[in-house]
Amino acid sequence: MMDTSTSIGPQFQEVTKYARGRPVPQAPGWAAPPPPYKTYESYLERIELPEPETQGGTPLWQAILHRRSQRRFTGEPLSLTELSQLLWATQGVTGEAPGFELRSAASAGALYPNETYVVVQAVEGVPEGVYHYDVRGHALGMLAEGDFSGEAAQACLGQTWVARAGTVFVWGAVVVRCAWKYQNRAYRYLYLDAGHLGAQLQLAAQALELGACNIAAFFDDEVARLVGIDGRTEVPVYVTAVGRSA
Ligand SMILES: Cc1cc2nc3c(=O)[nH]c(=O)nc-3n(C[C@H](O)[C@H](O)[C@H](O)COP(=O)(O)O)c2cc1C
Repeated sequence: MMDTSTSIGPQFQEVTKYARGRPVPQAPGWAAPPPPYKTYESYLERIELPEPETQGGTPLWQAILHRRSQRRFTGEPLSLTELSQLLWATQGVTGEAPGFELRSAASAGALYPNETYVVVQAVEGVPEGVYHYDVRGHALGMLAEGDFSGEAAQACLGQTWVARAGTVFVWGAVVVRCAWKYQNRAYRYLYLDAGHLGAQLQLAAQALELGACNIAAFFDDEVARLVGIDGRTEVPVYVTAVGRSA
């Protein structure tokens, strides 16, 4: 049985709570926030994504009514248009505020700490591999080429059905992007933000008549290695598999 007085979970909750009489951490000013977008010197290949569609699809109430976690996939490929739509629905730029851009899913303080990676397992016209989503350019950048479906499934605690998804989304949180402002409390927001991403992705998949399942049962270090992040300054927080429902 967990000892709630000494375990790390309750300690985390205590240390990161806002309470009257305790100073609320202040951001050190807007002069030099960490960059809101991760950039790479180069990608192995760059794939421009189709413009997102903002009409059509399953109506929202129907999508909510029929949303279920789907773990049975046919293995048939997704189209590039579908993948583009899923990426845009979770992290696409949809607005502007003075000095920064706003995205399709909400984020604490509009800091958007989560970077999106996709393991492409079956997408028409896209070589299998691990990709980073270039949010601003609405493009995919290849980080590694090859079939990583086995690694993805194994990293998800051996949930073998993951290997039959068309694509596996992985979100890695760049801690400083949020901690710069919220300090220890940022660790709550990284996960809350990721929850929004997973929920929005699942509804977007539903709108496209695709199936999706969110995944938090994974070996952290293996997921980090899969998408090429260090697991410390950028931590894997959430995974979602999307595919054609069997
Ligand atoms: C934070 C979170 C983590 C989850 N992790 C897994 C997972 O690792 N494997 C899995 O098969 N389902 C996972 N699920 C899906 C849940 O099992 C599922 O949402 C729940 O059984 C309710 O079923 P429904 O989504 O079909 O309504 C996760 C869901 C959430 C929200």
